[in-house]
Amino acid sequence: MKPMGDQPLDIPSNWELIDPELLTGTLLVIGAPNVGKTTFARHLYQRLCQTWDRVAFLDGDPGQSILSPPTMMTLALGERGEDAFPPQGQFWRSFVGAVSPRGHMLPMVVGAARLLRAASDAGTQVIVYDTSGLIDAAQGGMYLKLAKIDMIRPTVVFAIQYDLELKSLLEPLRRRRTVEVIQLRPSTGAKQRSFLTRQGHRAAQFARYFSGAHLLTVNWVRLAVFPAPSFVVNRLVALEDESGFALGLGIVQRIDRQFRQVVLYTPVTSLDRVDAIRMGDVVLDPQTFRDEPINARGFHHRS
Ligand SMILES: Nc1ncnc2c1ncn2[C@@H]1O[C@H](COP(=O)(O)OP(=O)(O)O)[C@@H](O)[C@H]1O
Ligand SMILES: [Mg+2]
Repeated sequence: MKPMGDQPLDIPSNWELIDPELLTGTLLVIGAPNVGKTTFARHLYQRLCQTWDRVAFLDGDPGQSILSPPTMMTLALGERGEDAFPPQGQFWRSFVGAVSPRGHMLPMVVGAARLLRAASDAGTQVIVYDTSGLIDAAQGGMYLKLAKIDMIRPTVVFAIQYDLELKSLLEPLRRRRTVEVIQLRPSTGAKQRSFLTRQGHRAAQFARYFSGAHLLTVNWVRLAVFPAPSFVVNRLVALEDESGFALGLGIVQRIDRQFRQVVLYTPVTSLDRVDAIRMGDVVLDPQTFRDEPINARGFHHRS
């Protein structure tokens, strides 16, 4: 397996000691940004595929996402007997509406529940859940991790930490009977990525997603719009199906308030399965694909 950058993958010896045959259920991977969660989660996924038939990967980071453009979480199933990454089977997406969990923790927890239910309905035996790196207690990160753990009931929590940054979460968890905590040191290959690198990764993911997009006119009174229609040019929105899964993203291009129509730039080709439009709290420039936050009233703060 190749890491996401160009450098070779370093597999620390303690990764090799993990026995995939002993792992079932939901395996949660947590840690601060850039400790190597995603790299480890991919490695673990591929190891599990060699033992189990129905393995899924949940990309739960709406910022540095790898299976979908940013602002979304994705659950993808592997094909039986295949360890390809990205997984090549069925997948489901859930819209978070922002590139950071800050201020958007509820859609992350609700989305994870919805995605894990889909995985369970599809008969998945084991799921690797790769999370965002927000662990800072002052920003609510610890509560987010606790809420996820409470709802998901993972069988194993893989905690990657340099120092004791996860201590306040791990200490009580270790005493629970229903979960095993496995602590890992970050690999020496794990590298800090700057704000600009992370922003560049997001822009590249968005650009790839929107290549081949076209204009789609939507009469918004025919759909549920969450929250109430507050369309702004370049606002990112998601088109959702009846179960709340995201069918795709769109960027608002024109707004016709008289006819209650909005023109979206989107790769989604038909409104047949669309039940709702969900507003994101992001504006996205359709030329550069640089994202900027937008506040709840639809005003866009320029940084
Ligand atoms: N074991 C490893 N071997 C080689 N490179 C790694 C390894 N772990 C992480 N990296 C590199 O470090 C950076 C951050 O890793 P990543 O897995 O994306 O971290 P996180 O998901 O925790 O933010 C990436 O550029 C990745 O390629
Ligand atoms: Mg990651």
